[in-house]
Amino acid sequence: MAAAPSISLSIFLFLSLHFTSSFSKIPLSFPSSLLLRPQSSPIDPLLPYQTSFFTQILDHFNFNPQSYQSFQQRYLINDTYWGGAAHNSPIFVYTGNEGNIEWFAQNTGFLLQYAPHFRALVVFIEHRFYGKSIPFGGDEDVANSNSSMLGYLSSTQALADYATLITDLKKNLSAVDSPVLVFGGSYGGMLAAWFRLKYPHIALGALASSAPILQLENITSPYAFNNIVTQDFKSESQNCYSVIKESWHLIDITSTHPQGPQLLRKSFKFCKEAEAESIKNWLSTAIIYTAMTDYPTPSNFLNPLPAYPVKQMCKAIDDPRSGNDSFTKLYGAANIYYNFTGTVTCFDLDDDSDPHDLGDWSWQACTEMILPTGGNTKESIFPASTWHFADRFQFCKTFFDVEPRRIWIPTHFGGHNIERVLKRFGSNIIFFNGLRDPWSGGGVLKNISSTIIAIVAKEGAHHVDLRFSNPDDPKWLKDVRKQEVNIIEDWLSQYYLDLAQY
Ligand SMILES: *[C@@H]1O[C@H](CO)[C@@H](O)[C@H](O)[C@H]1NC(C)=O
Ligand SMILES: *[C@@H]1O[C@H](CO)[C@@H](O)[C@H](O)[C@H]1NC(C)=O
Ligand SMILES: *[C@@H]1O[C@H](CO)[C@@H](O)[C@H](O)[C@H]1NC(C)=O
Ligand SMILES: *[C@@H]1O[C@H](CO)[C@@H](O)[C@H](O)[C@H]1NC(C)=O
Ligand SMILES: *[C@@H]1O[C@H](CO)[C@@H](O)[C@H](O)[C@H]1NC(C)=O
Ligand SMILES: *[C@@H]1O[C@H](CO)[C@@H](O)[C@H](O)[C@H]1NC(C)=O
Ligand SMILES: *[C@@H]1O[C@H](CO)[C@@H](O)[C@H](O)[C@H]1NC(C)=O
Repeated sequence: MAAAPSISLSIFLFLSLHFTSSFSKIPLSFPSSLLLRPQSSPIDPLLPYQTSFFTQILDHFNFNPQSYQSFQQRYLINDTYWGGAAHNSPIFVYTGNEGNIEWFAQNTGFLLQYAPHFRALVVFIEHRFYGKSIPFGGDEDVANSNSSMLGYLSSTQALADYATLITDLKKNLSAVDSPVLVFGGSYGGMLAAWFRLKYPHIALGALASSAPILQLENITSPYAFNNIVTQDFKSESQNCYSVIKESWHLIDITSTHPQGPQLLRKSFKFCKEAEAESIKNWLSTAIIYTAMTDYPTPSNFLNPLPAYPVKQMCKAIDDPRSGNDSFTKLYGAANIYYNFTGTVTCFDLDDDSDPHDLGDWSWQACTEMILPTGGNTKESIFPASTWHFADRFQFCKTFFDVEPRRIWIPTHFGGHNIERVLKRFGSNIIFFNGLRDPWSGGGVLKNISSTIIAIVAKEGAHHVDLRFSNPDDPKWLKDVRKQEVNIIEDWLSQYYLDLAQY
């Protein structure tokens, strides 16, 4: 493998917690191409929520006077459908993940769409250090300046923020007995599940969608993630899989030819010539993110995409009109992910803009979120590679001068023997997973008890259930949502029975 590309902050990120360079000896060294493309549409100014800010404590777990500093935490609220405190009507809370909360609200319709049915209040809370919820006076440069500042960014602090904010909000609304249900997708889904387990007196239940709480070392294989990506493309066509699989080598050898870089630039319409590593990362990003967001209707989460984008990519590759030229085929596939709107004039591999504010995930991945996804078997659509903790360690040491706490997440939240552990302890959690989502490899895929329920959709992608419904949604997706609604109704009726009794 070629030398590692230079490392720059902001590089790996994302809910996807995905940062494995399949191609470099140093993982986490994504070139800028891993960043979301800037063509993602700006936040809808007409988002149907009011914005509020809450004065949040900086450090919930330290009584040193300095830790009493506060910051402004943003939350979005919609009370149009709420039945009110007098009826103890429910409160639906989205436990924000690593990005701008407005962006998550735009891509998460479930709460608002079922609010009239449940007469629910809907609240989306932003995760500290993301979007507008920046400690240290809201100054991102200060908050990100070093590990003394970033040290306040952790999942445990975030959960305590949610507990504090929800409790205060209920007090303000005189809605102390209104049951709270938490919802989240991806890392936000992990937070929702953990919140129910850690704060059962605050949340009655959790819908944890595509929450890879088991994507941990020695629990889920580091090969699982890319095995699923591989399977997604293979399921469309063997040719599609083979063309992509052979492309990595082809890019490498082409770029060593004197005319190679120019040929690659022309073939892929790059703004300027690029190194093989950048090109491969650019292409693999498109493949992985398309697999994650292989939704049945057009979407705009990571990038604007057509319905069933993996199928569309493979269609471009399998198109006989593209002849025998692999680069023409791959360009066609990449164009689906990076240029579905047709507005991009050339692809800028140096672009490292971060329109959804995901950058600080790198800190979380370097401290507690060790979610190994970077392994590739011989059959993988990417070149074979092994995931090593030592690579992560080295990167984090170099980059943040911080040492990842390798077993903190399983120590604090658990994960080993989850069935045995939760069977007689926890309750009221729905784990949704779509098996086309590479993150489903680390999801809870089996029922644990009568109230810790796994809903598994063979055709589903990353938290597809929480997306706004669409008239063209397939039947299986409508059924999933119906089942989730029924389960939540059961929890609520049990709650109101208990409330009447005690
Ligand atoms: C709540 O959402 C509904 C549906 O989108 C919208 O009509 C209403 O204006 C929103 N209410 C507030 C207070 O934003
Ligand atoms: C970290 O950054 C803050 C804010 O920029 C600064 O005041 C502090 O001195 C820095 N600490 C270290 C150890 O560099
Ligand atoms: C509750 O009300 C107080 C007083 O108006 C306010 O400062 C606080 O931010 C409110 N809490 C929330 C969660 O909005
Ligand atoms: C593609 O390659 C195959 C075998 O290498 C050859 O038979 C065929 O004619 C080629 N087709 C085109 C359009 O070049
Ligand atoms: C993006 O799509 C448009 C419309 O199909 C096309 O004209 C343009 O060349 C594409 N951009 C790139 C970089 O391929
Ligand atoms: C996983 O298992 C290996 C081998 O037993 C061990 O060295 C490593 O520390 C374990 N990692 C975690 C996170 O438990
Ligand atoms: C879990 O149980 C529910 C019924 O409560 C069932 O619909 C669902 O298919 C089960 N999940 C799995 C993964 O077997």
